[in-house]
Amino acid sequence: MNLDLDALFKISYGLFVAGVEQDGVLNGCIINTASQVTAEPPRLVVTMQKNTYTSELIQKKGSLSLSILSQECTMETIKRFGYRSGREAPKFEGIAYETDESGNPYLKDGVNAVVRLQVAQTVDVDTHLLFICPVLGAESRSEAASLTYDDYRILKSGGTLGSAERPKAPKKWTCAVCHYVYDGEIPFEELPDDYVCPICGVGKENFILA
Ligand SMILES: Cc1cc2nc3c(=O)[nH]c(=O)nc-3n(C[C@H](O)[C@H](O)[C@H](O)COP(=O)(O)O)c2cc1C
Repeated sequence: MNLDLDALFKISYGLFVAGVEQDGVLNGCIINTASQVTAEPPRLVVTMQKNTYTSELIQKKGSLSLSILSQECTMETIKRFGYRSGREAPKFEGIAYETDESGNPYLKDGVNAVVRLQVAQTVDVDTHLLFICPVLGAESRSEAASLTYDDYRILKSGGTLGSAERPKAPKKWTCAVCHYVYDGEIPFEELPDDYVCPICGVGKENFILA
């Protein structure tokens, strides 16, 4: 069998904001890797790159919040939480949020449910950490459909959700590790061989058309 990483994008994912408060600092980032591990007791697994600010804070705090994004979520929110690090600028400033009993922040808009998680186990998988988390609380916030990774690809290409005919999103060179989307003036193919992802630092060979 070939190893076509593009094929993995056919697995359907939701999109979430993992949020955390640690020593008065609020931060969060977009993830697509939250899923249920067991129903009884309810447990989720959340996969995070080690080098994100959010994962650093979650390791210290031992808990996190999950905002399940709905189709009412805007591309601005995805960019705010997914395209830059909270180490550079505070992400929760100027947007509506609330906090749970642990102080972890949830988005108020563009969200159809929120979940409160405690980290019970952390598994090291080289570049990433798996946080295995009992669910401490969960609440529905709207009946809007959940945003999928596919919806995100439509939004990022300037399309709109819910139109009868969904335009097929043109593929863009995307970092398979952190999902950074290359949008530079120079065609991706013409970038030097030593080009690295500006977000997570992996080489050009880790970019895929997605
Ligand atoms: C669509 C999308 C999906 C993403 N999925 C994940 C993910 O599952 N895990 C992860 O660690 N980062 C993921 N990221 C990348 C982080 O959101 C990104 O690196 C963010 O800037 C980290 O911010 P921080 O340093 O403030 O934590 C995703 C980004 C996007 C746009």
